[in-house]
Parts: sequence; structure tokens; C-alpha cells
Amino acid sequence: MHIPTLIARKRDGEELSAREIENLIRGYTSGEVPDYQMSAFAMAVFFKGMTPAEIAALTRAMMESGDCFSYPSGHPPIVDKHSTGGIGDKVSLILAPLVACTGCWVPMVSGRGLGITGGTLDKLESIPGFKVGKGLDEAVAQLQQIGVVMMGQTDRFCPADKKLYSLRDVTGTVPSIALITASIMSKKLAETLDRLVLDVKFGSGAFMQTRKDAEALAASMIAVGREMGVEVHAILNPMSEPLGRSVGNALEVIEAIETLEGGGPEDLRILVLDLSEKIAGVSRDQLISLLDDGTARRKFDQLVTAHGGNPDDLPRLAEIHQAPLIREVIASAGGVVSNVDAGFVGQATLQLGAGRSKATDGVDFAVGFDQLVKCGERIHAGQAVCRIHARTAVDFDMAEAMIEKAVAIAPE
Ligand code: URA
Repeated sequence: MHIPTLIARKRDGEELSAREIENLIRGYTSGEVPDYQMSAFAMAVFFKGMTPAEIAALTRAMMESGDCFSYPSGHPPIVDKHSTGGIGDKVSLILAPLVACTGCWVPMVSGRGLGITGGTLDKLESIPGFKVGKGLDEAVAQLQQIGVVMMGQTDRFCPADKKLYSLRDVTGTVPSIALITASIMSKKLAETLDRLVLDVKFGSGAFMQTRKDAEALAASMIAVGREMGVEVHAILNPMSEPLGRSVGNALEVIEAIETLEGGGPEDLRILVLDLSEKIAGVSRDQLISLLDDGTARRKFDQLVTAHGGNPDDLPRLAEIHQAPLIREVIASAGGVVSNVDAGFVGQATLQLGAGRSKATDGVDFAVGFDQLVKCGERIHAGQAVCRIHARTAVDFDMAEAMIEKAVAIAPE
């Protein structure tokens, strides 16, 4: 196969065959196809797009570039959720143990935060001792014991995606529906799922800025999943204000635990139930009972133990990760909260140190926001709109200025 010709054909908008795409991905994974050719190919895809058949072939080739989960015969339904990412999105921390309580197995392979959206693995690692590294055999053994595993991508899990995602990140080729679909779905399909629910976000705090783009991405991911025999559901959700009231690694784990104990903010609890209902195979009322009677919380303890953490640390997480400066931001005027811009809150969280600008950066578990006001709430002058958890006074001032831009209060 002559790679320059293949790139030129895609550049000119031709449809490639499944065999050609397979060979390209195989060559890229083995190192025969260099990064500069793959970058040119990704840019051609970015401009010309791909047909549904090409996207399916790319997804399959990336999925087959490494190992897939395999389960013992007679296993229960294998289910998972994927979110395209948002600000304050800690749904996975609640949904995975909750759905495992219904008898399904949840093999959740998650990512780290990059840019303004947080990552499930970073949040979990704020629990002392929690290890996200597991081999596939170890992961399946854990599923047999407790029905849930929450881990990172290994070198043998979709290696083509691992390489291509890093390349896209530095070549301006991330926001392509074909490439996003193949990247996300190759990893989810390598989990060998029966059912998958997709939480596709749109708005200032999301990858997709408009509902129309989110719809196109959802349709593309559903088509690929169904083609591969997986029951796929998608829910479109606005990401104009942060989810829940806390943003930041340990702060989000604390809010997730409250929700696992039957409390937590209403928008978070509703979204967890909406998504869980699509994959769990039990009624919404049964899911509510599992949250309210402590069953899901006990499953989270088992999960923490299985990953090397100590559940006794969970109630002390706020002390373990106490930022040096915790101060309120006070509203200067009263009224009704009309906006809490997720994009600004995400930017501020990143600048406080909770996120990373490049893949090799570390994250600060302690910093972020909590007690954030929600749109539609009535507040009076002098009331707090949130608390900032910062490392330094300079960071606090930066975050306070961002919150003043993010929160709009309309006079009544
Ligand atoms: N998340 C992924 O895993 N891949 C993408 O391309 C975008 C978001």
C-alpha cells in the first residue's frame, strides 16, 4: 500500500476501503507509518470527513490494534457509560458502583483530564492508595468478585488510539466527528459490551459547542456501536453550567459520595438516574432505592478496597486534601442566578491547578470550587455564590475574578 497515495485520495474526498483503513492503522501501530504521514491523513479526514462505513472500519481497526476484554461464559450483562466530558462531571464515580449493584458488570476504562474538562482517573487518585492501573485479566477477576472495575487505558488496550489521540492533540485534528467517534467507540467496544449509554454534552463547558454538532456526534457513535452489535443509547445534555455544586478532584469525589449516600445535588442525581436507567435493566425506583438505602455506597467502598484504597479515608477526604486557602465569593447584589458559565468555571479550575495543560502535567487534588450556586436560585446581596479552594492568594484572586465573570445575577 502506497501511503502518500492513500493520503491524497482522502484529501480529494474519496472513500477508502475497510482493508485500506485496516492496513493504515496496523502500519501506524507498528511504527511503519510515521507520525508525519498519520498527521496528514488526520488532517485530510478533518476536512473531508468519512462515510459511516469508513468510520466503522476505522473504529474496528483501532479496537483490534490491542487486546479486548473477554469474559467467562454465562457472564451477566456487560454495560458501561461514556461522557464526552464536562465541568463538574462526576457521574462515573456514582453510576459505575450503582449499576454494579443491579447485577450487571461494569468494566469502566476512563481517561485523565485534559484542558478544562476533568478526568475520572484523576478524581479517583485523590483517594489515598487508589490505583487505576490493572491488566485485563486482573480487571475481569475483579468483575467476578465485585462487578465493577474503574481503570486507565493500558499499553495493550487500543494502542492505535493512544498514539493517534496524542498526535491529534498537537496537530489541530481533535474536533473531527469521524476521529472522535473512532477514538471513543474503539475503547468502549474493546470492553466487549452488551449495552452502552453515551452522555453527549454541548455548550460552553463541552467539546461540542452546539446541540447540532452534539447530535451529529451522537448519531455517528450510535451507528458504529449498532453495527458492531452493541445496544447503544445516547442522551444529549447541555453543559452550560457545571454539573452539581463542586468542581475539582477531591471536591468532586466528596460530592459523588454524598450522592451515593442518597443526597447530593438534584441535577447530578437526576443525570445519574437517567443514564443508569438506560443500561441497568432495572426500574428507576429500584435504582433510587439502591442509592437511598446505602447499597451503592457500600459497593463504592468495595471498589476503593479492590483498587488499594481504604474506605475509612473517604469521610476524611476534605481534611486529607485541605487547600491552604478556602474562602467564599460574596454576591454584591441580590436577584436570580441567570448564568454560571461552565467554560469560565472550567478555565478557573484549570488555572487553580486541578487540571493539566499537557498530558505530562500533575494535578492538584485539593483545589477547585464547592457550594456553587445554581441557575434559577434566588440569592441576596452578601450571600456566598461559591467557595474557592486555592493554593495561594494570587490564585484565589484569579479564581474570584473568573467567578465574577461566570456568574450572572438578574434583578428580580
Ligand atoms: N475522548 C476520546 O477518548 N477521544 C476523542 O477523540 C475525544 C474525546
